[in-house]
Amino acid sequence: MSEIRLQIDGKEVVAREGMTVLEAARSAGIAIPTLCDHEKLEPFGGCRICVVEVDAGSRSQIVVSCVYPVENNLIVRTKSEKLSRIRKILIELLLSHAPDSPLLQELAKEYGADRNRFDKEASFCVHCGLCVRYCAEIKKKNAVGFIDRGVRKEISFIPEIAAQECNRCKECFPLCPTSYLQAAFVLTEALAFTPASSEAAAVKQA
Ligand code: SF4
Ligand code: FES
Repeated sequence: MSEIRLQIDGKEVVAREGMTVLEAARSAGIAIPTLCDHEKLEPFGGCRICVVEVDAGSRSQIVVSCVYPVENNLIVRTKSEKLSRIRKILIELLLSHAPDSPLLQELAKEYGADRNRFDKEASFCVHCGLCVRYCAEIKKKNAVGFIDRGVRKEISFIPEIAAQECNRCKECFPLCPTSYLQAAFVLTEALAFTPASSEAAAVKQA
């Protein structure tokens, strides 16, 4: 794979063709804030927290670094007033959905975001897709998925699959930035399928 040379925050960086700007920045020890990115998962580009400014030729634009591919001679800025303003507003919007998320609170502190700027619409899920993608891409089970679209979009466990797979896995739980996933699982488990422990008890009694 051929080498790509670019500049990130004034530093000359050598990346490999096919890498994203986020990967190139990380390889050079330059941190970019992220929320929906995970090193084991395909780039998703959902939260937009990882935006950066790029100059390619005479153009300057804001791009999503976790899905934007490196190019030769690209000039990237990961910090600027404009970027901080964009990240701040994105964090404020996400906080209206998940005001108690520790990760969002940490980002809010860093970017001076006001958790009360927008009216609370506490859905708790911020649609990062980490649980859905982890289950599909790594575990190949598709036990959790998105249902509906737009503002009505939410995650849902598929009871028939979850009843077979989730109790012994739960690897997606720690990935959720809001803890909503665990609550949704417990609810689905209670409503839609018999927990393994009850099954065991039922077998014992029989
Ligand atoms: S439940 Fe959590 S991990 Fe899954 S999409 Fe929502 S916020 Fe992300
Ligand atoms: S980390 Fe890039 S869009 Fe979420």
